[in-house]
Amino acid sequence: MVRHVLDLDRLHAAGMVTPRGDRTRIAEEYRRIKRPLLIKAFAGDESQVDKGNLIMVTSAIPGEGKTFTAVNLAMSMAKERDVYVLLVDADLSRPKVSETLNLKAEKGLADLLEDETMDVGDVLMRTSVENLSIIPAGRPHPMGTELLASDRAQRVIGEISHRYPNRIILFDSAPVLASNEGGALSRFVGQVVFVVEAEKTSESEVKGALEVLSACKHIGLVLNKARTRLSTGRLGGYYGSYYQEGAA
Ligand SMILES: Nc1ncnc2c1ncn2[C@@H]1O[C@H](COP(=O)(O)OP(=O)(O)O)[C@@H](O)[C@H]1O
Ligand SMILES: [Mg+2]
Repeated sequence: MVRHVLDLDRLHAAGMVTPRGDRTRIAEEYRRIKRPLLIKAFAGDESQVDKGNLIMVTSAIPGEGKTFTAVNLAMSMAKERDVYVLLVDADLSRPKVSETLNLKAEKGLADLLEDETMDVGDVLMRTSVENLSIIPAGRPHPMGTELLASDRAQRVIGEISHRYPNRIILFDSAPVLASNEGGALSRFVGQVVFVVEAEKTSESEVKGALEVLSACKHIGLVLNKARTRLSTGRLGGYYGSYYQEGAA
């Protein structure tokens, strides 16, 4: 079986998380971000939520760090024993997962949703990280919203979650204020990770976006690109990511 080799050194050099257990600040931040998400997905008690293993990463507007967050989360989760991760590039207008991971992909989600004869197995790419698979976005598609809102999308996502019940399915999504793609997808997932770019996204944008996502009851917030405060009280040069549960 073909496994696509991921260049973990390159990811590490780009300041991202790898599943190797690097002791970096970003790895530590994502360890904290993933924990409550995994509990809602798999706890096996009352903390577990319906469809909690289907998680969508989104934000209000482009460029806030959705892909950065989705890839880091996928890597961090793939480091866990017994957790299998399927990262789906569902930002059909501005797909970036393949580029970020340097994967050459021809077919993907858009093709799968459009072509009734295709099967999930036709677009799923296994990687050199044993418990991480990817579904790329596929051919650029002008009608992403229609595809993601379709009955076919509901069936395909249902099939993915049925086929891989013990798997985290992480969707890197379109920004919700730019199109209806994100809103369409939020109806199918159990958890939303909502990325807010520190000192950039306005409060009204956040409020507007959370309204669009109201179909999902479990929304957590990642404050991305936050400059850290040093012990001296000065702002440090690093970006940090902080997670807050139940933000909505
Ligand atoms: N916390 C961060 N630290 C450093 N760079 C970041 C961070 N978050 C995002 N970036 C960079 O900002 C740019 C936009 O992020 P991206 O994840 O592509 O945004 P989106 O998917 O929301 O459009 C990318 O170049 C990404 O590498
Ligand atoms: Mg993106």
